[in-house]
Amino acid sequence: MTKTDTPTQSPAPAPIIHLRTVDSTNAYCQRRAQELPCPCVVLADEQTAGRGRQGRSWHSPDGENLYLSILLPLPQADSHLPALPMAAALAGLDALTAVGVTGAWIKWPNDLLIENRKIMGVLIETCRGRGSRELAVVGIGMNLDMSAADLAAIDRPATSVRAEAGRDVERAELLQALIAAFFAAWEQAQTGGAAALQPRWSAASRLLGRSVQVELPNETLSGTVTAFATDGSLCLRLRDGSDRRVQAGDVHLRPL
Ligand code: BTN
Repeated sequence: MTKTDTPTQSPAPAPIIHLRTVDSTNAYCQRRAQELPCPCVVLADEQTAGRGRQGRSWHSPDGENLYLSILLPLPQADSHLPALPMAAALAGLDALTAVGVTGAWIKWPNDLLIENRKIMGVLIETCRGRGSRELAVVGIGMNLDMSAADLAAIDRPATSVRAEAGRDVERAELLQALIAAFFAAWEQAQTGGAAALQPRWSAASRLLGRSVQVELPNETLSGTVTAFATDGSLCLRLRDGSDRRVQAGDVHLRPL
């Protein structure tokens, strides 16, 4: 892969645009949505203003990790939308398995953890492409080879592929596996919608039956996870016995 901001040929199902440094691959896709091929993958060696969920930042030191955004048409049917986070999480799991890292699980909706240590995060945003077409920007950050100092700079427990695999893993190998798995899952969702991915996605979670706290913008819910709905929402039984479905929020596990 050459470092350029023009598309390069690759065996991937979409062109890969490889940047040396950028503020955020998601922001880059949003700024250039009118010019970029769609679908495409924007990869950066370093992000100077990497974005995380809930307005957090994503620590993105040079050359240590995978930082990429997949730009693709937003599905027309609302029922297909939850397939995006599901496909991203499943692709991460498949890529980890491909390089010999086992034991990862999906912390709703799409974080990947090993025990309580985060290894991958996903930030999905939208923008308008040519002809005002609505596009999705699926931003994925996976810790590949972070130094102990960089891992310690993260405010939550974190790990990396190298730490878990116990060996050096080529970024290109992980990237190819991730992209291939993402587009395979996405293809599956084109016909079957989110329902086609939901069983695997739900099975890869360890939250079923667990006691959790879910932080929403204006309240915090405490309850037990009873299911993951086909539309991607988290089903909770609250302490007063009532049921709530949550579309988005930050989950914290309560001790067993
Ligand atoms: C999270 O908070 O867990 C989501 C993190 C998403 C980080 C990725 S890195 C590539 C892409 N560009 C960004 O600025 N963020 C996402």
